[in-house]
Amino acid sequence: MRRDYINIGYSPKDTDLICEFHIEPSAGVNFEEAATHMAGESSIDSWTEISTLSPELAERLKPHVFYADEATKTVKVAYSEDLFELGSVPQVLSAVAGNILSMKIVDNLRLQDIAFPESMLREFKGPNFGLPGIRKLVGVEDRPLIGTIVKPKVGLTSEKHAEVAYNSFAGGCDLVKDDENLTSQKFNSFEKRAELTLKLAEKAEAETGERKMYICNVTAPTCKEMVRRINVLKDLGASYAMIDIVPAGWTAVQTLREEAEDLGLALHAHRCMHSAYTRNPRHGISMLVLAKLCRLIGLDQLHIGTVLGKMHGEKHEVLNLRDQCVLDKVPEDGSQHVLAQDWGGLKPIFPVASGGLAPTMIPDLYSIFGKDVIMQFGGGIHAHPMGTAAGATASRQALEASLEGISLQDYAKGRKELEVALGKWLNK
Ligand code: 3PG
Ligand code: 3PG
Ligand code: MG
Repeated sequence: MRRDYINIGYSPKDTDLICEFHIEPSAGVNFEEAATHMAGESSIDSWTEISTLSPELAERLKPHVFYADEATKTVKVAYSEDLFELGSVPQVLSAVAGNILSMKIVDNLRLQDIAFPESMLREFKGPNFGLPGIRKLVGVEDRPLIGTIVKPKVGLTSEKHAEVAYNSFAGGCDLVKDDENLTSQKFNSFEKRAELTLKLAEKAEAETGERKMYICNVTAPTCKEMVRRINVLKDLGASYAMIDIVPAGWTAVQTLREEAEDLGLALHAHRCMHSAYTRNPRHGISMLVLAKLCRLIGLDQLHIGTVLGKMHGEKHEVLNLRDQCVLDKVPEDGSQHVLAQDWGGLKPIFPVASGGLAPTMIPDLYSIFGKDVIMQFGGGIHAHPMGTAAGATASRQALEASLEGISLQDYAKGRKELEVALGKWLNK
C-alpha cells in the first residue's frame, strides 16, 4: 500500500513550495489516486511504498495534496522546503517537473505554476539590473525600448552583421541583438562578430548621442566556453550578453548569472524551444513557470510573446507573464492557474515582445503593454523597402506617434520612412 497524500484543507506553511498541476488520469485510474501517486513520485515515494524511510521522517517530509478538483482537473501540492536544494533550479525541476511527466498513470500532466517560499527566494538574487537598471544603462526612462534582431538569423558574415547592426542603431534602435541560432559559426565567429559589432555600436553612439547596446549571444556547448565568451565581451567593452535559456539549460543560466554579476553585464534571455514544454495546454510545463525561474535566477530581460505577432500565446497568457516579470506581489488567480507570489523585492524583469512584429503594430503594442516593454522587430525592420536604417526610423516614428496619441497615418505625413512602412505592412 502506498501512502495517501491527499490532505484537503491542509494549510501550507510559509516555508512550503506550492505547485499547481493539471492532471488527467489514464483510463481506469481515479483522480485522487493519480494525484497521490504524482505527489509521492515527485517527493519521497515510488510506485510502491518505500520502507527505508522512517515513519517520523516520512511524516515530516510527505507532500500534501491540499486541493483537488476533479471537475477542473486541478491539484495543488505543498512540498516541504527540506525536499529541495534551495538554490538549485535543476534540482527543483527534477522533483516537481521530473519523472512525474512520464508516468503511465496519467495521460496528461502539466505543471501550471510554482509559488516559491521566501526561504527559497533568499537563495537567489533575482535580476542584477532588472527593468530599472536597464533603463539607466540605456538612458531611456519614459518610453518603450526599440530593438532589432539582425536578419537573416544566420548566414551573414561578421562584417555584414556589424554593418546591419550599425544601420539599425543609426536609424534609431536602442538595442540590437543576435538571433537565437547565431552563436559561433564558420561564416560568423563569435569573436569577430562581437569585436566588429561593438565597435560600430560605439560609432553609432558617438554619431547619434544615444546609448546603443549590442546584445551578443554567448550560448555555447559548455558552461566553461560560455564563461570564456562573456569574459571576451567584457574585455571588448560590452554591457550585455544573451543566452538561449532552454537549449542551454538551467545550470548554464545559473552559471551565467553569477559570472555576469562579477563582470557587471546585463543578461537577455531568449526563450526559443520553450514551446517543447509549454505549448500543449494539457501537458508539460507552463511558460509562466519558466518566466518565474528567470526572475528567480535573475535574467534582466525576457521574451514573453507579443499578442499580435507570429508566435502563439493568447493575450491573457502574455499579460500574466508580463505581471510575473514586473509586479512585486502577484495575486492568486484561479481562473488563470496563477498562484499568489510575493517576489520579496526581487527586481522586475524587462519584458520583451518579439516575433513577427512590424512598426505598424506599435500603437497596439503600446496600448497592450504600456511603456515598460522592449519592442523587437526582425523582418519588420530589415524588410523595410528603403532598408534597415529606414525600418528602424519608421519604428521610432511609429513610437513617437503612439506616445503623442497621433494616428500613424497623420504622423506619416512628411515622414517617408513611416509612410513607406504603412504602405508595406498596414492591414497586410
Ligand atoms: C520569442 O521567444 O518570443 C520569439 O522567439 C521571438 O524571439 P526573437 O525575436 O529574439 O528571436
Ligand atoms: C524570430 O526569430 O522570431 C525573431 O528574431 C523575430 O524576428 P521577426 O521579427 O522577423 O519575426
Ligand atoms: Mg529569433
